[in-house]
Amino acid sequence: MTHDLDTRFALAQTIARTAGAVARDYFDRRETLVIETKRDAQDVVSIADREVENLIRAAVADAHPDDGFLGEEYGLAAGNSGYTWVVDPIDGTSPFVNGMPNWCVSIAVLFDSKPVIGVIYAPCFEELYAAAAGRGAVLNGRVLTLDPSRTIRNAVTGIGANNYVTPAFVGKMVETLMDAGGNFIRNGSGALMLAYVAAGRLVGYYEPYMHAWDCLAGYCLVTEAGGWHHPFPVEGEQLTRGAPVLAAAPGAVDDLRRIAGI
Ligand code: IPD
Ligand code: CA
Ligand code: CA
Ligand code: CA
Repeated sequence: MTHDLDTRFALAQTIARTAGAVARDYFDRRETLVIETKRDAQDVVSIADREVENLIRAAVADAHPDDGFLGEEYGLAAGNSGYTWVVDPIDGTSPFVNGMPNWCVSIAVLFDSKPVIGVIYAPCFEELYAAAAGRGAVLNGRVLTLDPSRTIRNAVTGIGANNYVTPAFVGKMVETLMDAGGNFIRNGSGALMLAYVAAGRLVGYYEPYMHAWDCLAGYCLVTEAGGWHHPFPVEGEQLTRGAPVLAAAPGAVDDLRRIAGI
């Protein structure tokens, strides 16, 4: 398992950089992209998302044909090696198509339903976040360790929202957080904001409903940096459903759990 994990950890980082370069190329000529909508007019997608996912699927299938693969754009292909890759080819498609740099490639790997690898690459910032179970988390090679003195009052919290699940609660959450002396930021990429929790830039991240491909890589990074996250159900069909997402640095766990009610 150790050797298998190391091989996949190295591959995930190589793929994230390659996929990120392809996505960056699309980003630089985004005026030419046809933007389509999914669940509502705020939920957008383009050929860039699909092509980047296809590229990652092909690279994983080539190296590990027995691994499972779940991606946002093309769904689940079951495997039988015990490993499943959970990938968001572009997280932050809204900033991507609107010309903002807050987007990333997010790659998680599960082994026997446990997230053992988390890699997030943000091409516009040239930042590669990488973590593997028991091996710690790094940002461009620098070890990430969360500072227990950071709280909701002396640091900022990320809050995300989409238009189709409980947007009203997000308003309530913002109000409660600010009443408690905190403040919030949203950059349009939940995966990248979870990486920012691991990097100590945000003290926590909450969103009422996200999918496995949005949060599992970030969760692995946060855990390995010394933070906490709400359990995300990945057994069987639960893997493709969504769930509430909350991650926090040690000094913000209790406050954010109380404010989010989970
Ligand atoms: C979205 C982003 C956004 C979050 C949404 C996600 P996408 O993912 O992470 O920040 O608020 O819930 O669906 O569609 O850009 O991959
Ligand atoms: Ca999407
Ligand atoms: Ca996403
Ligand atoms: Ca996406």
